[in-house]
Amino acid sequence: MAKDPVRVLVTGAAGQIGYALVPMIARGIMLGPDQPVILHMLDIAPAAEALNGVKMELVDAAFPLLKGVVATTDAVEACTGVNVAVMVGGFPRKEGMERKDVMSKNVSIYKSQASALEKHAAANCKVLVVANPANTNALILKEFAPSIPEKNITCLTRLDHNRALGQVSERLSVQVSDVKNCIIWGNHSSSQYPDVNHATVKTPAGDKPVRELVADDQWLNTEFISTVQQRGAAIIKARKFSSALSAASSACDHIRDWVLGTPEGTWVSMGVYSDGSYNVPAGLIYSFPVTCKNGEWSIVQGLPIDEFSRKKLDLTAQELSEEKELAYSCLS
Ligand code: NAD
Ligand code: LMR
Repeated sequence: MAKDPVRVLVTGAAGQIGYALVPMIARGIMLGPDQPVILHMLDIAPAAEALNGVKMELVDAAFPLLKGVVATTDAVEACTGVNVAVMVGGFPRKEGMERKDVMSKNVSIYKSQASALEKHAAANCKVLVVANPANTNALILKEFAPSIPEKNITCLTRLDHNRALGQVSERLSVQVSDVKNCIIWGNHSSSQYPDVNHATVKTPAGDKPVRELVADDQWLNTEFISTVQQRGAAIIKARKFSSALSAASSACDHIRDWVLGTPEGTWVSMGVYSDGSYNVPAGLIYSFPVTCKNGEWSIVQGLPIDEFSRKKLDLTAQELSEEKELAYSCLS
């Protein structure tokens, strides 16, 4: 029997990431090849014509799984009945800007969209915040939508996770699909900690630790970390726009694994509401290693954290606490 369509909201749908993301959703890359979808696309009035152009292209592409398109500048109409909300709308960072620079513009958007989602989305709607500062926007959304369960509000660090897999695969000349269990801890910012201490590579002789195969701790502890931390800035420098196709693809990975589950023995990184695991202060949206099953994520517990890692986990937590304070000062 055909499945009922799932309603997926994409805010900022007329922007760069939106343009890459909506065809992926309509092709089943986010929710699976047998899952019909209805796309809800929200943007602001100055982008209304461009948004309508995206809608025309979606019709022209004749996607078999796409059962309807709502394209609107009205947040209430956009949020009504949605089961999944991918929050991309906002102002992107330009060359030379830090995430803090986009804070005041973006947190006020997330405060107002929190209420629209809380009142009008389907019960149990899963929310993924992509727009920067992603962790703090997600936290503001959570605080101003108190009736949405906190487990349902997440932010995107899967792009950083995938970047870490990509760097290891390039360094070792192995297939990226054979590398697993890297971790991104903390903020989706240059303070994040990409950690390979538990990562492995599939080889004919079984899974081998990345540290053993790379055999260059100096590279793993310095250049690898800074390359992943700075990848967003490197892409802005090269393209003059921030990453879009990789962000869209990683957003699909995030929702797909959350809804359909992570493969046995594999974890991924998600920005989730901290419960104090790994002595990360509770009350931040912080990226942890998670596994997903039956539509729920759980933080992977019990991984040993060495002194080098501890400092890095604390540093990125500190930045998130400061961002939280700054966000509240922007809203007051
Ligand atoms: P973009 O400027 O191309 O598109 C953003 C869109 O949001 C625009 O169409 C704009 O009109 C719209 N918008 C602005 N205010 C809005 C509002 N109140 N409601 C709905 N829509 C609104 O930017 P982009 O390149 O698509 O990036 C979008 C966001 O994603 C940025 O904040 C960027 O920094 C962030 N980003 C995050 C990651 C990540 O891994 N978390 C990766 C890449 C980019
Ligand atoms: C990215 O990681 O590519 C984006 O968050 C863009 C940025 O501002 O770094």
